[in-house]
Amino acid sequence: MNKEANYLKKNKDTFIKELFEFLKIPSVSAQSKYNNEIKKAALFVKKKILQAGIDNTKIIETNGHPLVFAEKILNESFPTLLIYGHYDVQPPEPIELWETPPFDPNIRNNRIYCRGAADDKGQIYIHIKAIETLIATKNLNFNIKFIIEGEEEMGSENLSLFLNKRENLDLLQTDCVLVSDTEMISLDSPSIPTSLRGIVTMDIEVLGANRDLHSGVYGGAVANPIEILSNMITSLKDDNSHILIKNFYDDVIKLTTKERENLNKNPFDLSNYKKELDINDIYGEKGYTTIERTGIRPSLEINGIWGGYTEKEGFKTVLPSKAFAKLSIRLVANQNASQIAKNCKEFLLKKAPVGVRVKIKIHDGMSNGMIVDINSKAFKSAFNAIKKVFNKEPILTRGGGSIPILTKFKEKLEAPIVMLGFGLPSDNIHSPNENFGIDNFFLGLDTILEFYKDFGSK
Ligand code: BES
Ligand code: MN
Ligand code: MN
Repeated sequence: MNKEANYLKKNKDTFIKELFEFLKIPSVSAQSKYNNEIKKAALFVKKKILQAGIDNTKIIETNGHPLVFAEKILNESFPTLLIYGHYDVQPPEPIELWETPPFDPNIRNNRIYCRGAADDKGQIYIHIKAIETLIATKNLNFNIKFIIEGEEEMGSENLSLFLNKRENLDLLQTDCVLVSDTEMISLDSPSIPTSLRGIVTMDIEVLGANRDLHSGVYGGAVANPIEILSNMITSLKDDNSHILIKNFYDDVIKLTTKERENLNKNPFDLSNYKKELDINDIYGEKGYTTIERTGIRPSLEINGIWGGYTEKEGFKTVLPSKAFAKLSIRLVANQNASQIAKNCKEFLLKKAPVGVRVKIKIHDGMSNGMIVDINSKAFKSAFNAIKKVFNKEPILTRGGGSIPILTKFKEKLEAPIVMLGFGLPSDNIHSPNENFGIDNFFLGLDTILEFYKDFGSK
């Protein structure tokens, strides 16, 4: 057995025990009541990278949640690898649907159940332990940098601002950005995403009368904000689920018939998909398959809607004065996020009658879609690493999710982005009972070590 495998074997249990410590910190970025926990998580990451053997590791404060930066420059002539990840997690709600408490890691069926287990704490821990292994066995032969942030789940606004300074870009300068924050089709069908979608999010507020009114006394004579908001929303798509915002599809790259055929050869079991989600049928843009709808086509979803009387018990005959919704749009590469945000806002405003006032707030942290350069040396290293560990060539997929900062890295660092993630579609990320397989963790560790070998030798 080589030195690395030996080190891993000796430390297997320690790695998982330490990961549990990390998972226990409820580092929810979206709600300020967790700000202390966010700080704790950043300090934990810093401590562990230091212990892995990178002396130059520090917390960088921002106007929001702190960044953790680390670097070990062995030799200016060696290639440099930048590892990106996020220590923040999604809120755990609804808590009653968790089988064990969301921040009390629990192993069942050889999987770790905890918020953040797969997205993204378990996956950044793979990198910290992989680097520790390389340094401990004296096999590190490239320069290494880490940038681990605490605002990914809210759009990475402050890391974005950080990238606006030349000196910070110099700090992050690299030959490759490596990210483990995505999923594979399955452990039997290991895969690598070659694109991710971009995202635009906004809040819509529709204001009617200055107070909730008696729906009998005023009903039929004053605009109902919930009704108006519903109409605005339903007007966004036609019966074929085609989005009707002006110029929406103009810049979408059309794949060739051959490219679409290839993409649709990827393993996908429709009946299993429906069964797993407990739905009778799928639903989406006419003329496209599920793989295409989430991978190469843009989409628009209402993420939340509220207003009026919403208590479960009883009823209240009001004509509400306000209605709210949150909306997000996923974009594919080449679409312009800020233009689309503007056009969407304009579209919605135009649909509203004069009887209501409409406020639309477009959130910061929007991003364009991203395409990976599959001809880069770093991508080939990732490809080879999977092949070696899983004994089969990885399948190339199109990711439906978004990691907004990667688009900005690609634009500003001029280095290839490689996404080598080890989650599975069944990990329940962002949902109750999030989990990460212990096999995924250790296969991930093996794969990253193989990647390093390939990367360092070039
Ligand atoms: N890790 C995910 C993105 C992801 C998940 C990519 C699965 C591919 C497969 C990331 O943490 C995430 O959830 N991003 C958000 C970004 C948003 C909050 C701005 C997303 O996609 O909704
Ligand atoms: Mn993530
Ligand atoms: Mn996420």
